[in-house]
Amino acid sequence: MSYLKIVGNGPLTGEITVQGSKNAALPILAACLIGEGPCVIENCPQIRDVEDTLSILNQLGVRTGRKASAVSVDASGIRNASVRGLQAERIRSSVLFLGALLGRMGEAVFSRPGGCAIGSRPIDLHLEVMEVLGARIFQEEEIIHADVKSLRGASIRLRMPSVGATENGILAAVCADGETVIENAAREPEVEELCRFLVLRGAKILRSPDGALHIWGKRPLSPVQFSLQPDRIVAGTYLCAAACCKGKIRICNLPYQELEAPIGILEKMGMKVAPDGNIWANPPLKGIGYLATEPYPGFPTDLQPPLMAALCTAGGQSRLCETIFDNRLTTAGQLRKMGAHIEIRGNCAVIDGTSCLHGETVSAPDLRGGAALVCAALGAKGETMLGGYDYIARGYENICRDLKSLGADINLTEGITDL
Ligand code: EPZ
Repeated sequence: MSYLKIVGNGPLTGEITVQGSKNAALPILAACLIGEGPCVIENCPQIRDVEDTLSILNQLGVRTGRKASAVSVDASGIRNASVRGLQAERIRSSVLFLGALLGRMGEAVFSRPGGCAIGSRPIDLHLEVMEVLGARIFQEEEIIHADVKSLRGASIRLRMPSVGATENGILAAVCADGETVIENAAREPEVEELCRFLVLRGAKILRSPDGALHIWGKRPLSPVQFSLQPDRIVAGTYLCAAACCKGKIRICNLPYQELEAPIGILEKMGMKVAPDGNIWANPPLKGIGYLATEPYPGFPTDLQPPLMAALCTAGGQSRLCETIFDNRLTTAGQLRKMGAHIEIRGNCAVIDGTSCLHGETVSAPDLRGGAALVCAALGAKGETMLGGYDYIARGYENICRDLKSLGADINLTEGITDL
């Protein structure tokens, strides 16, 4: 098993450029199933979730290729609508093929999606959206069948602004007869990026002032070349790493606007984050009082674990509440092993920021929890052995390369036993 060996060695310095967005890449790769290819997606991160998605496309009979960070997808040879097997079962975003396959093939058979163990993660909203657009859904234990003669536009109101259900609704609606309106649609930048990709190809999609998405279907979609925006969660993770280690770094392609909420919190802690990507984390930092995760543009759930790590040594008390997923505070247990003073009360972590963290043997509970433990280990005294690197590799193209260029002592090591 691979694990990370990290030695806390003082402030970070230097500059980096962050990878393209994982959570934009995944729905856009699914969108390449619609219309004729080949599309080229540039700045596409080389991470396991993307590689799994490309394997799923290949299983569908879709030709894909990669030249460095440019991925080509040509769906003209698609030959089936079955999303099954290891890759489909271990990533959450396999469900995003549902809308595109119904639109392209009139059917979809897929395994219940996997993904990080951060809560129950049902897909009821996805299935409801497809039924409203005219599809029939048949659910077995682990397999879901969906089919439709022809998707028809409809009005949909999501009971919660689910990112994935919004994206699936968009992918089906661009193939539906007539207009679809999605009310209470998610506003995450990755949803906007999917819409930009589809509009560039010829789709007609507008967001009204009340936030509803209006999609007029059945417009021909042409192949395009499209470059992904930087990954705001990876960038936000490195901001939290700087908060843990202190120092002065620069993120050359910092998606400043998309990180408004996290930057506001880090500046409340005492950091300075400039729009040009220059970041100062001079001690002492301080706690933030109360904060709850929220749908965009609120504080993103994906940065809750890295922020938890930063708050452990920020001085003062903080109360960090998770409102999006029902089991996403598990990183606290591993941080406590490193000396953190964190108490879980319901869906909140009460953090006493006066602790000093020490190196420890710990294990990543999931993707962003693993990234949080990297941040904590960088600021801890001594050596940390962090197991579960495979989780981190799902979303971070090369966390060692990135952090080494900021002066961190971090190495990927092959071990013979699970940590
Ligand atoms: C996307 O997941 C992201 N993943 C997640 O990032 C991110 O945390 C999440 O959005 C919230 O921003 C990708 O884009 C691939 P949701 P998604 O549907 O679409 C409930 C990462 O670390 N829900 O907005 O699965 C759900 O249980 C990952 O990069 C239903 O109840 O998130 C959750 O409580 C982790 N029924 C809430 O909605 C449904 O049918 C938000 O989930 C769908 C969701």
